[in-house]
This record gives sequence, structure tokens and C-alpha cells, in this order.
Amino acid sequence: MKASEIIKKYISFFEKRGHKRIVNSPLIPQNDPTTLFTSSGMQPLVQYFLGESHPLGKRLVNVQNCFRAADIDEAGDNRHTTFFRMLGNWSLGDYFKREQLPWFFEFLTDVLKLDPKRLYVSIFSGYNSIPRDNESARIWKKLFEDLGIDPKDKIFYYGVDKNWWSRAGLPQDMPKGEPGGPDSEVFYDLGTAHNKKFGNKCHPNCQCGRFLEIGNSVFMEYQKTEDGFKPLPNKNVDFGGGLERLLAAVENQNDIFQTSLYSPIVSAIEKTTGSSYKENSRAIRIIVDHFVAAVFIVKSGVSPSNKEQGYVLRRLVRRAFDNINSIREIENMVVSTKTVVESIISQYKTTDPDLVQNFERIVSTILEEINKYRFTINKARSFIQKKYPQIGDELKGVKKISIDDAFILYSTHGLSPTQIKSLGYVFSVREFAKKMEEHQRVSRKGAQGKFAGGLVDHSDQTIIGHTATHLMHQALRDVLGNKVFQTGSNITSERIRFDFSYDKKLTNEEISKVEKIVNEKIEKNLPVHFEIMPLKKAKEIGAIGLFNEKYEGKVKVYFIGGPSTHSVRSGQPHTQAYSVEFCGGPHVDFTGKLKRFKIIRQENIGHSQRRIYAKVGAFL
Ligand code: ALA
Repeated sequence: MKASEIIKKYISFFEKRGHKRIVNSPLIPQNDPTTLFTSSGMQPLVQYFLGESHPLGKRLVNVQNCFRAADIDEAGDNRHTTFFRMLGNWSLGDYFKREQLPWFFEFLTDVLKLDPKRLYVSIFSGYNSIPRDNESARIWKKLFEDLGIDPKDKIFYYGVDKNWWSRAGLPQDMPKGEPGGPDSEVFYDLGTAHNKKFGNKCHPNCQCGRFLEIGNSVFMEYQKTEDGFKPLPNKNVDFGGGLERLLAAVENQNDIFQTSLYSPIVSAIEKTTGSSYKENSRAIRIIVDHFVAAVFIVKSGVSPSNKEQGYVLRRLVRRAFDNINSIREIENMVVSTKTVVESIISQYKTTDPDLVQNFERIVSTILEEINKYRFTINKARSFIQKKYPQIGDELKGVKKISIDDAFILYSTHGLSPTQIKSLGYVFSVREFAKKMEEHQRVSRKGAQGKFAGGLVDHSDQTIIGHTATHLMHQALRDVLGNKVFQTGSNITSERIRFDFSYDKKLTNEEISKVEKIVNEKIEKNLPVHFEIMPLKKAKEIGAIGLFNEKYEGKVKVYFIGGPSTHSVRSGQPHTQAYSVEFCGGPHVDFTGKLKRFKIIRQENIGHSQRRIYAKVGAFL
């Protein structure tokens, strides 16, 4: 069974149980400055766990491309990757444990035909006032017993470090307002021998690699408040299962890189480095994972840089290159990069066909970064050579450098401590860590200073920015005409970035006009609200905006300044609102909260598109 067949079977299993399929959201979240990447299927759904209603109803299913930067250092073993695809199903205040656990068990044993004897489960053991999850325990017990399996050895209890899930992790790390809850995980026994290095007794959460976590049902029913946890308006289910790992279980592979999904990519790397996976499994796993992640991140429009997503991409490409070099030094990377990227695209093009038309751009972005990295390495080498003329490159032996110089290689040349070491330079890792801490303390101070202007918290500021983009979008159309439409946006607590179709530079007069209109709408303190309506009606009343969510006829539309109504005479829907946009929200309730709006910069971003940066808020 191929990865794409598992996806098909999973979606249809849940569709048969009343779920509606939602889109695979962009890997780079729009309008959410709290995270750089989509790292879980639930991320685009947070507002619905908090109580908003979803246009498609209470049962949802999808497969979501995910990237977890935090797992970069885990890559290299038999089961961790930074990029993966998550199968997800959700109940927004509809079914709960009694349906979720048996359904997932049925999917594993009946549809994927996994041997139930090889399945193990974990359960939340309780935390402060939140009790142990006895209901899940009862359900699992019965499911195993019904198949004649003794549940005694199958069910394991863990605390918040293993069986609690929120975007922020542990309960104590969750910010105020964040939803979370206990979870129950399912593990597949790969049957490998236990390694005592990881503890005396093996168990599902043991790190020896015998158990593979293949699915996690989170019972999202709590919200963090100032004084502990309170119940959310609804009891929700948030399920996530790693496709790559399910495939390993189905194909009975104890290494996900040996599955039908990854093995052609592994072969491409074997070919290009002239080495075998057997001898270089760790390095090849890192190369495979980092290349796959880089391909998807570049496809999302990111270029390597020194900040945010660009920095993560830079790290991935450089680390992959270091690992290639550790096997064999390849002078010309053009053919190798093409071969590896081709093998990746051919594995993922069924679910992500747009990879194909992006092939050239992906290859050239990666190659360019590798060349920059080579240049950096050469510069770093000559910097050290000048300072330490005694340590010539050809000289073997210890090349000890001062901690200050090691730090310059990090902060100015952009090399990580591992990369500096791989160049053969020796320094105290402890001293380096101390220096790094000091450096981070100083930069944190700087960042705090930036927000000292009496701003509300970041998320409030982002919501304000989001409403401002709607006003700006309409104002741009008022001033420049209806051929203006949004092509993208990104909002941080400091500024709004808005991309739209338009092929000329805006004059100063046009910019002033847009600012004036937006500020007028802010001063009028217009009400903001949303309605869920048939797509047809939304189009009839002229809703604009990025409409990329397929809601099977129903859409969520935000209005600024008036409701939608039916004209008494024609029966046609119409609206008095100033702005009508397809949007998932959230937004402020009144435009007065935006205070002031100002455009700070415009750019030409090619393909007849312009980009505007603007600020909004009391600090202007
Ligand atoms: N959101 C849960 C996870 O990522 C399902 O594990």
C-alpha cells in the first residue's frame, strides 16, 4: 500500500462517518506571527476549538503538510523527520472519546490490516485538578478484550510530559487563552530488540526505537486562564497521525527511510554520493529529510536568509550539504541537486502537483545557497588563516582558536558551532554556550524595547492588523480600480505586509488617498461581524479576498460596516457594508480599535504584483 493509498483510505473512512474534507493549509501560516511553520493539522483550526463555528460543520478531516523546526536535531534516527504529512480528523464539540478511539482502532486493524497484537496505547495519568483519563482506559480495555487480547500489557499511563497536548507543549508553558488537553497515543511495536542504554525496561515511550508512535487523539477540552484551566465551550477531538510512520507499520519496516516513500530518494542520494545507505544511514537520513523539507519550503515562496523561515531553510540546506560532504566531497553540485530534487518531486507530485512546475526554481534556490555557503566557508577559513598564520590549512593536528574568534565565525560568518568544528577548528563548547547566552540576553532586551510603546499583547495587535488589511484591500480597489485583488499577506505584531495585483508604482497621491480612506473608516468605528452563507450569495454581494478554502458551498464572510440583507424588491442579497471579504478571521469587533493606519513602504515583487508594508495602532 502506497502513502497516497493510505491518504485515500483515511479520508474516505472519515467521510463515511460524516466528516468534511478541508484543504491542506499553506506550510507558511498566513496571519499568524506566533509560529513560522504549520506544524500540526489543528493549527489553522484554533479559533474553532475556542468556540467559533466552522462553515463545514463539526466533523472535519484532512491531510496536512507539516514542518517542525524543533526536530532538526532529532533527524538521523529511524523515525524522526522535520517535514511530514499529518492525517487529521476533528470533532468540534460533536463526538468524543467513545467514537474517536474505536474509529482509529478500526482504521488501523480493519482498513490498514495492522496486527492488533503489535499495538500499544498510552493514557493521561492526571495533573493537578485534571483527573486521570479513566474513560479512555475503559474504551481501550474493551477494544483489546473484544479481539481476545489481554489489555493488561497494552495500556500505559504517563503524565503531562507525554500525554498532554497543546501548541505550546506542557500546561505550564501554555500562554493564557491557549487550548489544550489530555491525549491518548497509539504505538506500533517494530519488534526490534530493546537497548538497555535507554533504561532497564522498554515501554511505548522508550527512546530505543522499538515503538513507533503512529497516532495521537487529543481531547481538547481545556483552556488556560489566569487561574488554572477552565473547560472550553465544547469538548473537541484533535487527532493527528504521521503518514510516514503509518506507512512504515503497514510495510513492516523498522526504519521509515526504507519505506516505498523514501527509498527512491535514498537511492538517489546513494547514487550521487557513491555510497551505501547501510554504511552512512545517519548522514543519508539527514540529507533526505532536509532536502524534502527544503523542497517544500522553497515551493512555499521562501528564500534562504538570516531570519525567520529563511533562516530555517538556510540551516536545512547547509546541514544537508555538510552531511553530503561528510560522505564525499562533490565539486559540482548541479547534477546531484537535480537528481535528488527530481526523486523527491516524483514521490510527492500526486499530492502536491505544483512541485513539478516549481522544479527549476527549487533547484536553483538550493544551488545558490550551497554556493553562498561554500563562499562563506572560504571566507571563514581565510579569516582564521590571517589571525593564526601558524595553522595552515594543510597542517594536520589541533587548530585551536579563541572563543571570541569562534563567536565571530558564528555571528558574522553565520557558521554554527558544529560547522565551525567540522572545518577542523577547536574551541571550548562550554565557553561558547556562555557567550551565546550573553548574546541572547542582549538581543532579547533590544526586542523588548521595540514593544515599549504601550502596545497590547501580540495577538491583539495581530488581530488589529488583520482587520486593517481588509480595509486597505477595499481602499486600494476604491483608489486603483477593481483589477486590484489580494495575492498574499503576512501580519506580524509590528507591521502588515499585503501583496496585490497591480502593475504600476503607486503615486504619493494614491498612497495618501488609501491612507485617508482607511483612517476615515477607523474613525467611524464601524462594526465588524461575520456570516456563514452559501458561496453563491457571497459572490452575489461581491465578497472579495483570497478564496482558497473549499467549503462545499458554504463560506465565512466578514463584513465591516453593515450586515448583508435581502432587497425587498428584487429578493437579491445585497449589503451596505464597506468591506465584504472571504475570511476565516479573527477580527476586532469595531474598527475604532485600529486607532491609526499608515503605509510605510511599497515594493514591486514581479509578475505584475506590488507589496505594501503598513503600520496600524496607537503608536503611530
Ligand atoms: N495536534 C496533535 C499533534 O500534533 C494531534 O500531535
